[in-house]
Amino acid sequence: MFVKNAWYAAGWSEEIEAAPLPRRILDQPVVLYRGASGTAAALDDCCPHRMAPLSLGTVEGDRLRCGYHGLLFDCAGTCVEVPGQATVPRWAKVRSYPLVERWRLAWIWMGEPDAADPDLIPHCPWLDSPDWAFSHGTVTYGCNYVLLVDNLLDLSHTTFTHKGTIGTESSATNPVTSTRENGTVRIERQMKDAAPSKLYQACGNFEGNVDRWQKIAYEPPGNIVIDAGAVPAGSNDRSRGIDTRIINYLTPETGESVFHFWAFARDFALDDPAMTSFIKEKIEVTFNEDKRVLDRQQEMVTARPQQRLFDKQADTGIVLARRLLDERLKAEAHGADA
Ligand code: FES
Ligand SMILES: [Fe+2]
Repeated sequence: MFVKNAWYAAGWSEEIEAAPLPRRILDQPVVLYRGASGTAAALDDCCPHRMAPLSLGTVEGDRLRCGYHGLLFDCAGTCVEVPGQATVPRWAKVRSYPLVERWRLAWIWMGEPDAADPDLIPHCPWLDSPDWAFSHGTVTYGCNYVLLVDNLLDLSHTTFTHKGTIGTESSATNPVTSTRENGTVRIERQMKDAAPSKLYQACGNFEGNVDRWQKIAYEPPGNIVIDAGAVPAGSNDRSRGIDTRIINYLTPETGESVFHFWAFARDFALDDPAMTSFIKEKIEVTFNEDKRVLDRQQEMVTARPQQRLFDKQADTGIVLARRLLDERLKAEAHGADA
C-alpha cells in the first residue's frame, strides 16, 4: 500500500528537540529525537525488552533511555546499557531509520536502508534561499494520502471548496494540460484576464484582472510543488506580479490518515513577518476547507470500497499520477529498483 523506498518528510527540523517525539509513519511507530550533538535520529518506537514506547523515555547525550526499565540505546538502535547487569544481550536492539535534515525538514527512509541515497531527497531550494520567504505548517487529514494527492493535482476544486480564500471562477473554467516526463507528472493551467483570488489580491495589491498560472509538478509517492503566480492582465511584467511556490510533502501516517507538510514560498515582502503570519493563517483556513471534504470522503470510500469512480477532463493529470504511483508500487513489490 505504501512506497517504502522513498524519502518522506518526518517532520520540520524545528519540531525535533531533545524531548522524544512519537510519530506514526507508514503505519509504523517511530520516535524522533535530537541528541546533545545536534544530530536528529529516528528509532522504532518500541523497546525490545517489554515493548514500552521509547518516546516515553529521555535523551541522554546522543542516546535514548527507555522510560520503563532504563535500557539505553544509541542513535543506531544498539543497546549500550542494561541497568543492573554487566552485559548487554543480543536481542537488545531496536530498528533505526535513516534520517537526514535538509530544507528545514527531517527526511526519513522507511525502506531498505542500503537504498537510502540522500541525493534522492526532493529538491526544495525555496525554503533555504535569501530570494524567498515562506510560511509553513502541518495539517493532518483523516484520509488515505492518495486522496490528498488527487486534491492537490486537480485545482478545479478550488473554485468550489475554497470560495472564501483562494477560489475563483477561472480555476474551474480554464482547461489543463497534463504531461508525464520520466518520473514526474506536470499539470498546467493558464488563466488570462482573470479575477485574482482574495489571497492574491491581498498579496499583490492588483488593481484589476490578472494573468495567472498554476504549474504543478508531482513526483511519487507524495511530493507536489505548485508554481503559481500572477501579473497584471496583459502586462507580461513579472516585476509587477507575484511568484509563489506551494510546496506539499505528504507522509502517510496510516492507511487512512496523512501528514501534509506544507510551505508557501513567496518572492515578495521578504522581510515582512506580518505577511508570513497572514499567509499562514489563510493557508491553514484553506487546507482545513479541504480537510472538511477529504475526511468525509474517506468515510465514503471506506464504506464502499468497490464503488467505481469516474474521471472528468480535468482529471487527466490525476490519471497519469496514479499510473506513475502504481508503477512505483509494482516495481517495489517485485524488488526492482524503485
Ligand atoms: S520496556 Fe524498555 S526497558 Fe523495559
Ligand atoms: Fe484545496
